[in-house]
Amino acid sequence: MVTTTQQKMVTGKINGQDVTVPAGTQILEAARLAGIEIPNLCFQPLLRPWGSCRICTVEILGRRGGLIESCATPLGDGMEVLTHSPDALQARLYILQMYLIDHALDCPTCDKSGECYLQDNTYLHNINANPYRRPKFSQPYEHFSATIDYKWDRCIMCNRCTRVCDEVIGVTAIETANRGLEATISTAFGIDLSETSCTNCGMCIAVCPVGAFTDRHFGHHPWELDATETICGFCDNGCTINVESNKGIVRRVSHLWERGVNHGYTCEKGKWGHEIIQSPDRIFYPRLREQDGRVYETGWDEIVAHVADRFGHYQGSKFAALASGENTNEEAFALQQFSRAVMQSNTVNRLLSPAQMAVERTTRQAFGLDVASTNNLQELFSAAKNILVVGPSIFEHAPIVSYWINHARLYREARIVVISTEHYLLCDRAVMWLKPNPGTTDLLIDGIAAEIVNSGLLSGEADQVAGASDYAAYVAEVDVAAIAEKTGISVQQIHEAAMVFLAGEMDFVGPRPEGGFKPSSVFSTIAHGDEDGKMAEYGDPARITAALTNLSALTGNLGIAGGGVASMRGPANYQGTTDMGMVPDFLPGGIDIADDTARGRFERAWSSRWIGQAITSNGFAQVRSLPTTPGLELDELADAIDSGVVKAAWVEGGFATRHEVLNTRLYEALKKLEFLVVVDAYDSPLTEIADVVLPLALNLEKDGTFTSYDRTVQRVRAAVPAMGEARSELQILSAVAGRLGYDLTYGHPAQAMVEIAQLVPDYAGVSYARLERGGIVTPVAAFGDEGATILGGDRLHTQYITPAS
Ligand code: FES
Repeated sequence: MVTTTQQKMVTGKINGQDVTVPAGTQILEAARLAGIEIPNLCFQPLLRPWGSCRICTVEILGRRGGLIESCATPLGDGMEVLTHSPDALQARLYILQMYLIDHALDCPTCDKSGECYLQDNTYLHNINANPYRRPKFSQPYEHFSATIDYKWDRCIMCNRCTRVCDEVIGVTAIETANRGLEATISTAFGIDLSETSCTNCGMCIAVCPVGAFTDRHFGHHPWELDATETICGFCDNGCTINVESNKGIVRRVSHLWERGVNHGYTCEKGKWGHEIIQSPDRIFYPRLREQDGRVYETGWDEIVAHVADRFGHYQGSKFAALASGENTNEEAFALQQFSRAVMQSNTVNRLLSPAQMAVERTTRQAFGLDVASTNNLQELFSAAKNILVVGPSIFEHAPIVSYWINHARLYREARIVVISTEHYLLCDRAVMWLKPNPGTTDLLIDGIAAEIVNSGLLSGEADQVAGASDYAAYVAEVDVAAIAEKTGISVQQIHEAAMVFLAGEMDFVGPRPEGGFKPSSVFSTIAHGDEDGKMAEYGDPARITAALTNLSALTGNLGIAGGGVASMRGPANYQGTTDMGMVPDFLPGGIDIADDTARGRFERAWSSRWIGQAITSNGFAQVRSLPTTPGLELDELADAIDSGVVKAAWVEGGFATRHEVLNTRLYEALKKLEFLVVVDAYDSPLTEIADVVLPLALNLEKDGTFTSYDRTVQRVRAAVPAMGEARSELQILSAVAGRLGYDLTYGHPAQAMVEIAQLVPDYAGVSYARLERGGIVTPVAAFGDEGATILGGDRLHTQYITPAS
């Protein structure tokens, strides 16, 4: 079924130029689309028009009064607008002079100097004298929290800060207090922000057009800093950030509005997390553990020779490589190549938690491939309507997704049901928050599916999916009353949640609308269940994931805009490391290792890299074919180490493994290896048990690409040099492989991407040149291809997963 939406368009004249835009577009936006900038102060992309500062005043010809704020006035058909008429300019000049009466004008000591919108507008309008003046009402900084200061005498009361807090973040930690001259921004009840619902995202600072909100961790002027646009490394949302540095130190992260999947907005980690890049507990030099257990720092030449020499003993099934989900695509591609082509082992994987493993396995079973999202995040701005959010706090684990869900609720009247055993911000803004008893989340979702089936509102599409008859039989047996008893959620609530997911209304009774229901999407954070109780709290992550994919298939929401299933996994490049073949049975691009023809392409590409004799002393063999049997899954790997089959491993850590053990079973097994190389940026439980520790450059210190959870490939750029002797994975692997006679050198990660694009059909349209213009959604078949933002139909091999009875 194809649905089309028609958008009414209007045409007006701006400065004599015909401009056609969708009806409802504000004049300021329409002018921007036509390349005409209108000065503004209280306008902020993605926030609702506010119209308070009046700096954006324009003149509408033929209209009584003529002058109007352009950010809050839609362009009308036939409207004639002048953005810089004498009357408009005079009005702006006067308004600016009014602002400057009470503004502190302490620009030399203001952090915002050099990027202040009031300063810019004052300059733009050439205001070098103000006939209106009175004594200044000077006020000291108010410390709102350990990170945020507020200075009243700089504030222009544009309310961008309070609006972003409410409309995007979904909090109201700050609000306007008092009226008139005494109006101010205040924390709730005047208490420290850390004691409120504030999430410390820093967006109040980011959107402040003047220096009223300032960052207490920042003490520089903008012109002292070099800026680098790159991708945040803390989760798989793939936010674009602007990293500003000088003297090799990151000083702050700022915001590129309307850029990237996050449109410039960030969470707490995105805003301040960069500080851990230059933490003193980084690993600066390679380390080697002597046989007597003592550890000493050494140089790269010595350590590379040692690693290559030892690895020579463990070729084939004795070797395993585990990437970090924070590797760049190019690093992951190189690591699986090293393992397969050089070490002759298909036992490659990511270091995953049991919950991540379960979600991966089930997603692959349900869809035929492991994709963290069938749909694109940006559909929350255009198509998503009914939204089911399941699992640990999405606000904590995928904050930007949470922002856009809240935005969809506010601006597009999306209806949200949250199923979570923990209370977080979105629970209060959802139509329903359901808190099932521990371990019963899957039952609750099955109950919702049964209520939908029992309502008789489904079309016949649900029967087209593989495994339909088994699943139908299973659902027919579901006893909703029994589920209500076990979950603690009443039958009525289960029914209402089902109707919200299906039809967007709790009390919907039918009939099924002609053309079907509005789309419904699922967002799951079940992969974030950890071993310390959260998994038990929610239940079996595999069963929950299966119940959700079943629900989406059942309601015909796969393959449509605003539908689908998203299951954010955590590490910044989880999807990319999967795509790059860090899985035991698939080559890069999800190509079956047993496919002789496809494997032959990789063999031909890589066999020419054998360039010389191995500089080792242990009979290492230069094999020019790839191993054909699938490697070991993580559970099997732990067993194989225990039984002495696998004896050596290359394991990479990351932010997630810095303080905790992700997978206890595997961690205990790794201790038994004869030779363990850990590549990491920080001391961690992994480095404690390593024979060799190699210092790894972090994402702000290297070039490459990440693929976000919604399959958008984006450019990672080095903002600062690596700390100490840390190196990127590409550099490290190139040195080790070189000692074994294999040329794994890429002059720049861009060259690795050229090879990836040649070998991996789903990345065939990815190139660094194209990435300079922005992210590219995969699968993307060729240079000019748009990429498949929605997976469904032929691209997925969807099947119902019916639980064993
Ligand atoms: Fe239009 Fe402030 S930007 S009124």
